[in-house]
Amino acid sequence: QRDRRHVLRLLETRLPRRIRQLLDDLAQVAEVEGVNIYAVGGFVRDLLLGVANLDVDVVVEGNAIAFAEALQRQCDCRVRPHEKFVTAVVIFPDGYKLDLASTRTEYYLQPGALPLVEQASLKLDLYRRDFTINTLALALNGPRQGELTDYFGAQRDLHDKALRVLHNLSFVEDPTRMLRAVRFEQRLGFTLGQHTAHLLRSAVQMGFLQRVSASRVLHELVLLLGEPQPGRALARLVELGLLDAISEELRFDDSLQQHFVQAGRAINWYELLPEVAPLEHWPVYFLCLLADLKTTAVERLCQRLGMPQRYRRLFVEQRHEAWPQYHQLERLGQRVEQLCGSELARLLDGLPVELLLLGMARTRHQPVRLAFSRYVTGLRCLRPMLDGRDLQRLGCPAGPLLGTLLRQLRDARLDGQVHTREEELAWVRVQLATRELTKEER
Ligand code: CTP
Repeated sequence: QRDRRHVLRLLETRLPRRIRQLLDDLAQVAEVEGVNIYAVGGFVRDLLLGVANLDVDVVVEGNAIAFAEALQRQCDCRVRPHEKFVTAVVIFPDGYKLDLASTRTEYYLQPGALPLVEQASLKLDLYRRDFTINTLALALNGPRQGELTDYFGAQRDLHDKALRVLHNLSFVEDPTRMLRAVRFEQRLGFTLGQHTAHLLRSAVQMGFLQRVSASRVLHELVLLLGEPQPGRALARLVELGLLDAISEELRFDDSLQQHFVQAGRAINWYELLPEVAPLEHWPVYFLCLLADLKTTAVERLCQRLGMPQRYRRLFVEQRHEAWPQYHQLERLGQRVEQLCGSELARLLDGLPVELLLLGMARTRHQPVRLAFSRYVTGLRCLRPMLDGRDLQRLGCPAGPLLGTLLRQLRDARLDGQVHTREEELAWVRVQLATRELTKEER
């Protein structure tokens, strides 16, 4: 059991200044308002485990919206209240968001009717949670500041590295908790308690996950695929029968495990390149998971999961378009090394980075992998230094010839025929002087 002083020291030493300052502000406002507030859930769990977690969830013993408004009078922030559940999100100028919940909840029996206010206790709030390790409450103000409230044996389970539900109906009430269980197991290196594992297997067998809305399943799947080693979590989903429950179209075996490992390497490699845009990891793994599924099967899967349109485009249309390019590179095998830059660019131009990384991850041929990396690191963003206006200044008329010359100038750069602006200018002059125009260009 951690004593108060020990927890206060953790708050002092393990948190970044920004969060310490926030907790101080919250405590001050709570004192003025005369309410008790607690940090709860993942934040407290991770504080004790020594894992970074900047997502502070706060429960107010009283009305969270009133508290948020008091905070707004003290600090520079905006409040987004959610009247129905008496919760509020506080948004700070740097974009940081804080979630506030109340132990006081109001129910509207009919629209327009007066709300029934229920004064729930902190214990009830914590009892509604998924696993014991998420049920700690840490007092943030008053004489009890730093004190842990542990109604359900959270500290014991943190010590034993055990994931346990609070009651037998936990997975029935919220079947997405089964996916959360796998995520926490992998992320924290914990194991399901025996009874919890038994409850989970029964809930799988009884088909409870199939009753959950598509968007909630997708949300959990996305979180799972966003973890550092999603391959291990996927293997566990298979073991527990959860992958089948998500979709019977999906499978995951040793060869896909291998693709996942390679995808992880490709992502790491990509993120070390200078000046690349931030990349979401999960779509790359999701593409791996689609393996050899036919486009129609992927369409069905996206439909079933309620996949948002922009990802659907990536997984269905763009993936479909990438297939012939992958095949062509694979067919070339060793000979891809001889492709000049413009030939490689013609094959891979237009593919989004997720599909380029998938190509790297899936191939068994080192020269093909190198071709992808050569394209991503150098060729993909290479453009001529001259633009359309420069070409017009050199005497090129506006029209189809201009477009053709710009494309060919890029090819010349990709193939290393021109390197500098002067060389590009010379190249264009020669073209304009010597080139026989086609009918369309005239
Ligand atoms: N929770 C739950 N059942 C769910 C989702 C969430 O009981 N299906 C509870 C958990 O106890 C959790 C809290 O709500 O502690 C907040 O949810 P979330 O932010 O998703 O959980 P964290 O534990 O903070 O997880 P993460 O570290 O992944 O953010």
